[in-house]
Amino acid sequence: MNKLEIAKPDDWHLHLRDGAVLEAVAPHSAAHFARAIIMPNLVPPVVTTTDAIAYRERIMAALPGDTGFKPLMTLYLTEATEPADVEAGFRDGVITAVKLYPAGATTNSQSGVRDIEKVMPVLERMADIGLPLCVHGEVTDSEIDIFDREAVFIERVLSPLRKRLPELKIVMEHITTKDGVDFARSQDERVGATITTHHLIINRNAILAGGIRPHYYCLPVAKRELHRLALREAATSGEARFFLGTDSAPHLDPLKESACGCAGVFSAPNTMACLAHVFEEEDALDKLEAFTSLNGPAFYGLTPNRERITLIREDEPVDYPSGVMAGSDRITVFDPMFPLHWRVAE
Ligand code: DOR
Ligand code: ZN
Repeated sequence: MNKLEIAKPDDWHLHLRDGAVLEAVAPHSAAHFARAIIMPNLVPPVVTTTDAIAYRERIMAALPGDTGFKPLMTLYLTEATEPADVEAGFRDGVITAVKLYPAGATTNSQSGVRDIEKVMPVLERMADIGLPLCVHGEVTDSEIDIFDREAVFIERVLSPLRKRLPELKIVMEHITTKDGVDFARSQDERVGATITTHHLIINRNAILAGGIRPHYYCLPVAKRELHRLALREAATSGEARFFLGTDSAPHLDPLKESACGCAGVFSAPNTMACLAHVFEEEDALDKLEAFTSLNGPAFYGLTPNRERITLIREDEPVDYPSGVMAGSDRITVFDPMFPLHWRVAE
């Protein structure tokens, strides 16, 4: 197959940042995606509906004039979040989800949740009104090995929360393990799981073998090969519970190429090409549309995009930029370490 037409994709987990980085990266997502769930972990974070309205305006101002791209806003859950504000933001159509970061789990998560008890009133309200919770599923306990933090989160936090509040819709974000795949499959339709492009392509060797490569470092960190294979099987299965959340997370190169580098992989410019490559390798191009364009809207109760895109497979490798500039600083683009032959037709 050299040509594939699908409904325009959505990205169910995206970091657009702010200021010069926002201006540099937003057009890349808008080029291939119709909508995206926008992560709220700015400094300071997007915690109230008022914050989300202001951030949405900054995003719209950074987009090309003719864009049809729609940012779907989220609120950053803190122990001080007001159920009434969350409900108002949802009813007014401002917010599409609320994001739970365990405090200390990742970039700008210091204001996140330490004690889940403290946010139960918000979660109960969300369950009542049908507002999904997006979860960064890693424990932060320093005694837990970083490669085990997702599996331990499922056991200690997610599984009990599901039993306590089964009506709450939950997105297990950027799952990186077979444990995540298996848990998602063990749950009813109120649990979905996003998978990133890069976790379908790299395992932990990419970060650590033959030299330390900071541009492959993200959180949750890539795991062993058996987990990557489980993710590929899940993403290409067509099952409704699995959908794309790229977690494209730009950081300026100096902040990644450092003695203590930031977590995040910036994949927006070549994500669709990488996914077409993966699905082709798995002999599952017929399942790509479900993963990128159908399963996510169904979970969120939205209709798929009417606009369509065409992916074209070129005989010769297609050139993608290895980086984009934000002011005078560069942001490295995800390098899948194989030539890309697919492109999205203009
Ligand atoms: O790798 C990551 N980068 N994981 C996250 O959870 C946050 C993100 C970021 O904001 O940089
Ligand atoms: Zn993220």
